[in-house]
Amino acid sequence: MNFELKPLSLVEAASEKCDVLLLLVADAYKPAKDGFSAFVGRAIKEGDALTKAGKLLALYKHPMAQATRVLLAGVGDGSAKQVRTGVMAALAGAKSDKLKKLVVAFASPATAPALRAAVSAVADASYSFTTTKSKPEARVLQTVLLAAANAADVQAEFERAVAIVAGVELAKEWANRPANHATPSLLAKAAEGLATKASKISCEVLGPKEVAKLGMGAFLAVAQGSEEPLRFIVLQYNGAAKSVAPKVLVGKGITFDSGGISIKPAAEMDEMKFDMSGAASVLGVFRSLAALKPAINVVGLIPSCENLINGRAVKPGDVVTSMSGQTIEILNTDAEGRLVLCDALTYAERFKPESVVDIATLTGACVVALGGVRSGLFSPDEALAKALGAAGDAAQDLCWPMPLDEEYGEGLKTSFADMANVAGRAGGAISAAKYLQRFAGKYPWAHLDIAGTAWKSGASKGATGRPVGLLVEYLLAPGSTVPAGK
Ligand code: BES
Ligand code: MN
Ligand code: ZN
Repeated sequence: MNFELKPLSLVEAASEKCDVLLLLVADAYKPAKDGFSAFVGRAIKEGDALTKAGKLLALYKHPMAQATRVLLAGVGDGSAKQVRTGVMAALAGAKSDKLKKLVVAFASPATAPALRAAVSAVADASYSFTTTKSKPEARVLQTVLLAAANAADVQAEFERAVAIVAGVELAKEWANRPANHATPSLLAKAAEGLATKASKISCEVLGPKEVAKLGMGAFLAVAQGSEEPLRFIVLQYNGAAKSVAPKVLVGKGITFDSGGISIKPAAEMDEMKFDMSGAASVLGVFRSLAALKPAINVVGLIPSCENLINGRAVKPGDVVTSMSGQTIEILNTDAEGRLVLCDALTYAERFKPESVVDIATLTGACVVALGGVRSGLFSPDEALAKALGAAGDAAQDLCWPMPLDEEYGEGLKTSFADMANVAGRAGGAISAAKYLQRFAGKYPWAHLDIAGTAWKSGASKGATGRPVGLLVEYLLAPGSTVPAGK
């Protein structure tokens, strides 16, 4: 799918040949003098609250437009949220339709957030997963032309939005793949593929031997119950001088989480193929970086394995030694995410990072706390938390700050090791974060629990590609970029 942005007025947009001309009309719309705009103005006036977000008026072969169909869609106050509502409503049938070329016209000047929301909503509405279908129903939509009179003002935002779409779609692709089509080795190949295609990206993949040599006893313990060999993926994006400290992203890459010996109930266990969504989001971010080529340095770390059960599987009560030297009593083998992440967090130290953000489908408790609307954000570093919160707002990929008081970590005490891998049920998302914090003392650190936001359950089951938007926005935020060549 190709996105294009052109400086076109409404009447100019109407002269574009296309299958659907989607006109986004906000409450504040003031028609220009031309006939087509006047017609839109009348339709709004006489229509039933047409500018309300989600309201639609469909017209077939309007005499003043070259499009086969003209769709007027209300976008309310024109905010990112309402633009998304309007576009999603308009394109609800886009997958099955004859919609190959779409023109999206902003009736009023496009604000940057509105434009970005339109790009991401068009992509989401037309996405379809085909990898494991014998008769794939591929995406029909090929060309999307965004028409805004003030196109020049929003060009940079447009490019960022398109790059984020590419990243989001790569993240969706890998997260959606079933576990037998997305093993740790296949994830590693995908990462290597990204590096081959982009000059500023390099990739190194470690296997069980190298990981054992590093002393990653916690990661190894999770992987030992599976026939599928673990992979530790190290991606580097070098857009700035070597002397510039990188931002490190750590993505949980459990390609299937059965729970291990502390096995999960059967219902909805298939959804544990999504337990590598953090890893998928890191791949997605690197895809976006490849497109945008910003002058920054970024490292992506992905500890990837299956959490399964065999005769060698780790058992409740087993004590392992992490790369940090701290010992861990594995009281529950289903709390495996923190075990693979803690060793990756220690590994991150070698990059002398500006910051480290881990991204993980870590706890069911976070789903209970925040549902599918906002990811859980945990950070003892106020500036970092603020930057991530703002990035989420800008990308409409929201998160919400959660506490890290000392007391939340008290349940991790045990007589048999430096810490247990679980505390009680209460505050489970927070005690998980407290566990991770013990491995992240050497740099500014934040943890994003995306258990509720990485995928949707039910009839529209599928990966969301979150939080690629938030992360790209965070990496590109002013203050975090240095001029190219320095
Ligand atoms: N991958 C799960 C978390 C999860 C569960 C994400 C449901 C999305 C939906 C994680 O590995 C896990 O099993 N966590 C346990 C921790 C518990 C044993 C302390 C959980 O949340 O139940
Ligand atoms: Mn688990
Ligand atoms: Zn898990």
